[in-house]
Amino acid sequence: MQAETYNYKVVRQFSIMTVVWGIVGMLVGVIAAAQLAFPDLTHGISWLSYGRLRPLHTNAVIFAFGGSALIGTSYYVVQRTCQTRLFGGGLAAFTFWGWMLIIVLAAVTLPLGITSSKEYAELEWPIDLLIAVVWVSYAIVFFGTIAKRKVKHIYVANWFYGAFIITIALLHIVNNIEIPVTLTKSYSFYPGAVDAMVQWWYGHNAVGFFLTAGFLGMMYYFVPKQAGRPVYSYRLSVVHFWALISTYMWAGPHHLHYTALPDWTQSMGMVFSLILLAPSWGGMINGIMTLSGAWHKLRDDPILKFLIVSLSFYGMSTFEGPMMSIKTVNALSHYTDWTVGHVHSGALGWVAMVSIGSLYYLIPRMFGRESMFSTKLVELHFWIATIGVVLYIAAMWIAGVMQGLMWRAVNADGTLTYSFIESVERTYPFYYVRLLGGILFLSGMLLMAFNVWKTVSDAKAVDDTVPAAA
Ligand code: HEM
Ligand code: HEM
Repeated sequence: MQAETYNYKVVRQFSIMTVVWGIVGMLVGVIAAAQLAFPDLTHGISWLSYGRLRPLHTNAVIFAFGGSALIGTSYYVVQRTCQTRLFGGGLAAFTFWGWMLIIVLAAVTLPLGITSSKEYAELEWPIDLLIAVVWVSYAIVFFGTIAKRKVKHIYVANWFYGAFIITIALLHIVNNIEIPVTLTKSYSFYPGAVDAMVQWWYGHNAVGFFLTAGFLGMMYYFVPKQAGRPVYSYRLSVVHFWALISTYMWAGPHHLHYTALPDWTQSMGMVFSLILLAPSWGGMINGIMTLSGAWHKLRDDPILKFLIVSLSFYGMSTFEGPMMSIKTVNALSHYTDWTVGHVHSGALGWVAMVSIGSLYYLIPRMFGRESMFSTKLVELHFWIATIGVVLYIAAMWIAGVMQGLMWRAVNADGTLTYSFIESVERTYPFYYVRLLGGILFLSGMLLMAFNVWKTVSDAKAVDDTVPAAA
């Protein structure tokens, strides 16, 4: 009788595509950054216009790059920690091909200007339906694997991945209830302020569950693995889980301060955002302290550097977020590049870096190798990426605060000190620096692609054997 093996094929597929979509999504980000620095760059070509490339960028980095990283690593982690083969072989393959099809459809429709115009939910209704089908299949594969696990305990990483899967299904379905008028155009079912409320309940929880909870699942598996240490406090991880998921749900209105939304909802969003600092930092500390007793490993392990620095950025952005949710602070930061800086300290510093670190751990193991082709290149990637993020976010922070202050400056007679266009002019130097940061980060991804290529090109795909008795 042949021993049962883990289903690594689908993990390999998602892992490789994470690198590919990372490069594509960030390249579009770099083009968008270049357009802001040089506004005439793609003048006259409608499908390359900023308004179309921006949602292409956000969809590509969040759903294609981030989504592939999350689905791929969750399939690996759930099998390893449940000591059983992935449930539903054909269905798992369907989730891979289905997700890729969705990405391709997004890459075609967004540049054509086909959009439902809700941020992070721009795709039109036929694609929304496909997303729902693929996502439910993903849930069946993931929870099916948990159901047939050979160990009694459900490791905490799976709790985070599980919450991410359930919540995204809920958010996606509720926010995308829409009335189709043609195959490529629909209108939201919700009216006015209710639509805004639902949209930002979705938008904020997309951050909380797509860009945070899922990646925390990644953190809880790959940080202890790479450090060779158990999680610092398992009890803290359970408290972290329940506190985080119960708080995130209520913070959405901080995106709609000073709008037509009832005032009490805005205040509630602010209060819950401030509370959110505690579970966020609890999780970050739990991740970083996992290294206690093994700090020396940071010196020469670039994978660990990626993972730990990602947690530092996570800590930074989850400190900054609650501050920006305070209404008086938001009065300064809203509409400015400060928000964009905050986004990318989370998106590049946390999401991209934790994914890159995890992939450097995962990819050689999927191909029967002990490590990546070149550890030196991983180290170089780490430094290029870190410098890139720092340039990006520092430029946006300074630009954002400057814009906010210029917009509110008034003369003694009550007239505005600066016209809007003056604030745009003053922002250019910062746009150049951001572009440089983006190019550096993208170059790091290209190094990664080369390293991955050298690691896997003459290697054999390997599927480990599932242990006979747990
Ligand atoms: C090379 C790397 C990247 C570059 C150069 C880049 C560049 C940009 C630019 C120019 C914008 C538009 C900003 C504006 O409208 O003023 C943007 C928006 C955005 N990017 Fe990126 N990006 C990069 C990586 C990423 C990654 C990896 C993620 C997510 C995992 C991400 C998520 C977002 C989001 C969510 C927004 C919308 C922000 C908002 O609405 O405030 N980006 N990016
Ligand atoms: C405790 C955690 C966090 C809180 C309380 C928080 C709070 C905020 C606030 C107040 C804004 C500005 C809203 C506005 O003025 O329009 C914002 C924007 C944003 N944040 Fe956070 N943030 C947190 C963590 C994160 C993390 C870790 C990420 C990414 C991984 C992230 C991604 C974003 C995005 C994408 C936006 C821009 C949304 C848009 O306007 O398109 N946030 N956040």
